[in-house]
Amino acid sequence: MSIQYRELGTGLLKVLAYASAVSTYLLILIGGYVTTSNSGTACGSGPGFDSWPSCNGALFPNLSNPAQVIEYSHRVFTLVVAFFVIGTVLLTWTRHRSAKNVVLFSSASLVGLFAQVILGMVTVTSDLNPVVSAAHLGLASAVFALVVVNAVMVWNLRSVPVEVSTIVM
Ligand code: HEM
Repeated sequence: MSIQYRELGTGLLKVLAYASAVSTYLLILIGGYVTTSNSGTACGSGPGFDSWPSCNGALFPNLSNPAQVIEYSHRVFTLVVAFFVIGTVLLTWTRHRSAKNVVLFSSASLVGLFAQVILGMVTVTSDLNPVVSAAHLGLASAVFALVVVNAVMVWNLRSVPVEVSTIVM
């Protein structure tokens, strides 16, 4: 009986994990600008569909209103981060499940990101309640820490031999 192996590369996983960290950092910068430019309520505030996920009841912001564009870009860039974080989790669970730490931290960053979107929604629908807004900042830091730790773990990953077939002689 002989077992054949091939190398399972980590190239795509590295790209997705690094992009998760960089895009989350950029999203945090955009979030900070939403606050410092007082654009948090530009797409509306208070409960109801009109303020979240839509922007004053519309699918797209009024492009001639800078504050709406700032707030809306914060929401749209969340989708970019979600693409990379979900991609990292899917690839980890399907191709790199033996890397237990990466499974743990990539999954935790997805759960954190989901919770942060919900908190972002509550930040808007609570009319920027200061406690909610502070929690939004706090969770943003936690999500960033998770994606950075995950990126470092992926960086340390080496290509692993995976069994491709068992030939019974
Ligand atoms: C679609 C989901 C999201 C919505 C609706 C949203 C909404 C907001 C709003 C309205 C503010 C301004 C708060 C204020 O002026 O007090 C804000 C700030 C911020 N957001 Fe988000 N956010 C979302 C997702 C995220 C995500 C995923 C992250 C990071 C992982 C994030 C990080 C931040 C940060 C760091 C700030 C600045 C907080 C501060 O300076 O106090 N947001 N967000």
